[in-house]
Amino acid sequence: MANKVWINNSIEDLNKAAAANIADILSKAVRLRGAANLALSGGSTPMGLYQTLSQDYYRELIPWNKIHFFWGDERCVPPDHPESNYKQALDHLLSHIPAILENIHRIKGELGPDEAVSDYIQVLSGFAQGKYPWPVFDVTLMGMGEDGHTASLFPGTVEPLETVTPVIQVNAAYQDRPSRRITLTAAVFNSSRNIIFLVTGEKKAKTLEIALSDRRDPVNFPVQRIKPTHGNTIWYLDSEAAKFLKER
Ligand code: 6PG
Repeated sequence: MANKVWINNSIEDLNKAAAANIADILSKAVRLRGAANLALSGGSTPMGLYQTLSQDYYRELIPWNKIHFFWGDERCVPPDHPESNYKQALDHLLSHIPAILENIHRIKGELGPDEAVSDYIQVLSGFAQGKYPWPVFDVTLMGMGEDGHTASLFPGTVEPLETVTPVIQVNAAYQDRPSRRITLTAAVFNSSRNIIFLVTGEKKAKTLEIALSDRRDPVNFPVQRIKPTHGNTIWYLDSEAAKFLKER
């Protein structure tokens, strides 16, 4: 399936391009299947994209009342905590669009890791699709850390559980962010129809070059574990993040 890279100098234009693509995919999915599944990411990068998607134009264009919202990962904090990925999406997107409350399926980080994991496995199983005991996401939004982590899949080890269960708990220090986290596993991400990576800034340039190279090192660069089995991957990059990428 397609693996595309989209590079733009301006982050604003990058967000516009990603938003237009997401709108297109979600609208088509709703036309085809009556509803669509969107998995959101955390981190600071998607904030501008969320704001773009909440503008009037996309509010009209996207059938938000038919979209189910999930998260790729969450920190073990309450939903009103400034480090909550849910809160970020709520503040910058969900509270500005006509989303349906029952269609917002957040990871309940405040329950603590064990309970939050079993709760989310249960939630996902309510949307089992085909052979998967979890929903197939029409769009999965993902970011990448400077160390090559994505969602909360961090470098160093592949937890044995990671290959057998859709949701795991993780303890990982990154910048000053909460270290106790819950994440979907690569198999869930890889069943997505479309994965959209948004990566910006010079600090990520070296890691990005490795991430997109043929040098396979998925243990140390977890972002390389993300390869949808049947879906597309689209990388939205600013020129700073993309500065070590060769002409492709
Ligand atoms: C999280 C994430 C994480 C994030 C990267 C990039 O909850 O922290 O989902 O994987 O996407 O750390 O974060 P920035 O966008 O802030 O660089």
